[in-house]
Amino acid sequence: VDITGTGASSKVTATLPSGESVEVLLYGATVTSWKSNGGKTENLWLSDKAALDGSKPVRGGIPVVFPVFGPPPKSGHATSTLAQHGFARGSRWEFLGKSTSEDALDSSSVKLDFGLYSSGISEEARKAWPLDFGLVYSVTLSKDSLQTMINVCNEGESSFEFQFLLHTYLKVKDISKVAINGLLGVEYVDKVLNASTHSQTDKSVTITGEVDRVYSKIPQNTTTVVEDGSPRFDVVRDNLQDTVVWNPWTEKAAAMGDFSPDSGFKEMVCVEVGAVNGWQKLEKGEVFEGGQTIKSLL
Ligand code: BG6
Repeated sequence: VDITGTGASSKVTATLPSGESVEVLLYGATVTSWKSNGGKTENLWLSDKAALDGSKPVRGGIPVVFPVFGPPPKSGHATSTLAQHGFARGSRWEFLGKSTSEDALDSSSVKLDFGLYSSGISEEARKAWPLDFGLVYSVTLSKDSLQTMINVCNEGESSFEFQFLLHTYLKVKDISKVAINGLLGVEYVDKVLNASTHSQTDKSVTITGEVDRVYSKIPQNTTTVVEDGSPRFDVVRDNLQDTVVWNPWTEKAAAMGDFSPDSGFKEMVCVEVGAVNGWQKLEKGEVFEGGQTIKSLL
């Protein structure tokens, strides 16, 4: 495990003996690279113009969304004055350390832990959400998978409510050949169609224009990204019931200053697991744990 860079651009890199690697920026505890296949295949899309200096949340990789998903409720909720997607993706986390394990099949894994506490967020965020919390985010690299798990603890005297999501940008070769399976029959809110509610009636979600859908209460844990007829990624939810599928397509991609190249939307799809339908409530001292395992099936 190497720690390189200084200040907001510090990052932690871990490599397995077999060549697979992961890179995590302390800013946002954002995973910015995950290579499998002996280190030959990058699985995450990262914009060429992503800010990696802590000046704004990273466009790409796996930003951590907490304690609110999307624009917060306009009023009447404790998160109402927070920024879109909350403060976790824009805060500098602490590196808590690594642990490694080796199993009988000679395949090893490395786990990196990151922490963020009420005392570590900006004054502005603290004012907007003055609640005492502790987050531990664990990133575990194995030969063919990456697991990212959050542990949220209410360290205050009263209860609080939050949402959580892993805004994963998966890298694909050609979006026109991508199908997303595992959502059949699931209800979703279509943010492109005025937040109307629909039910997924096709076996596969294909992407031929802007897509921004929030699938909720998904019964099956695995969402599979198929590319050119072959399974490319399994995204396995752990204690999370919702998944956002997002692709900005031509116009929205061009409108984002940090999205590059303009045609990059053809090489990415966001499959974002989370708890974003309503709120998760934690009483004093309670803990919530949830996350994902992404398997690279190449
Ligand atoms: C997705 C949302 O999760 O994130 C989209 O569903 C949003 O509505 C997208 O546009 C990107 O958000 P941001 O804040 O990173 O530009």
